[in-house]
Amino acid sequence: MMSEGLAPLTVAVHSVRRSARDELAADVRAGLMRPPRWLPPRWFYDEEGSRLFDLITELPEYYQTRTETAILRDHAASIAALAAPEALIELGAGSCSKTRVLIDACRARRTLRIFTPFDVSDNVVWRTSHELVDEYPGLTVYGMVGDFTSHLGFIPRLGRRLVVFLGSTIGNLEGDERNAFLHEVRSLLDRGDTFLCGFDLVKDHAELVSAYDDSAGVTAAFNRNVLRVVNRELGADFDVDAFAHVALYDPTHERIEMHLRAERPQAVHIPGAEMRVDLAGGETVRTEISAKFTRVSVEGMLAEASMQLEEWFTDPAERFALALASPVTRRRPTRR
Ligand code: AVJ
Repeated sequence: MMSEGLAPLTVAVHSVRRSARDELAADVRAGLMRPPRWLPPRWFYDEEGSRLFDLITELPEYYQTRTETAILRDHAASIAALAAPEALIELGAGSCSKTRVLIDACRARRTLRIFTPFDVSDNVVWRTSHELVDEYPGLTVYGMVGDFTSHLGFIPRLGRRLVVFLGSTIGNLEGDERNAFLHEVRSLLDRGDTFLCGFDLVKDHAELVSAYDDSAGVTAAFNRNVLRVVNRELGADFDVDAFAHVALYDPTHERIEMHLRAERPQAVHIPGAEMRVDLAGGETVRTEISAKFTRVSVEGMLAEASMQLEEWFTDPAERFALALASPVTRRRPTRR
């Protein structure tokens, strides 16, 4: 028989991104050329940055990860019942630690056949893909390496979909990028498909700030690490220790901002981006925004992208929420 000699496809990893160094050089040129200076947060996550982020998730001040995991645990069975996915796609998957709860629940209902971790880091996608295939016999893993702001269209359609985006990573996007992203997600969804997204909620400002300015200084080290990435990848000479970590809450935009503040003037050479940056003493580089949401703001964003809220799962203190959404299909005008 034909099938005897052929092992079933269990792991495939497909990369659709350009060279990371070219993308970093382009971002550095776009963001550091003139004030107000900024760098996109995706460059935090090299090996060291990912390790520091994992430490952040265990800090007493950083409630997000443990709260979201608890919500997932409590509601994974209902999510699996409502979504009944054949293909689970996780955007910004990282190490998939929270996703396993969902995979377990979907496997228990026997609908799930394919898992697609989608992440910018090819190491991460390879490592988790192999781990998951070992942990879940019979599951096909189709990993994808790409950027969730530009490459979602490459994800193959392999059955009824549940697209998940956890951790409130959506908060890292600016308002217009967020709307564009949600439109992209919507274009992945046919009738019957669903989208599960994590949102950190608006709350007491002091509590929010301390989640991004912990007493052990882990977030400060995570923030400064982005300059080490630029030094290493582009041959730059940022004096990393001469930058102070700054976390503040902007109530107008309902978002946390992280900055790095040059404690003294610095002339920085960045050969890999063919530029030189003269930073004044006290000047800041914005390294991250992390928007906070309410049920009303989430419903508005979803509606704008032709999606609707099906379920809103939250913890008792309403610190964090998981929104389960479905596509709104426009009704054809009735003729008479
Ligand atoms: C992983 C993007 C959701 O914005 O809270 C943690 C990253 N930055 N501490 C967040 C982060 C500083 C985190 N996200």
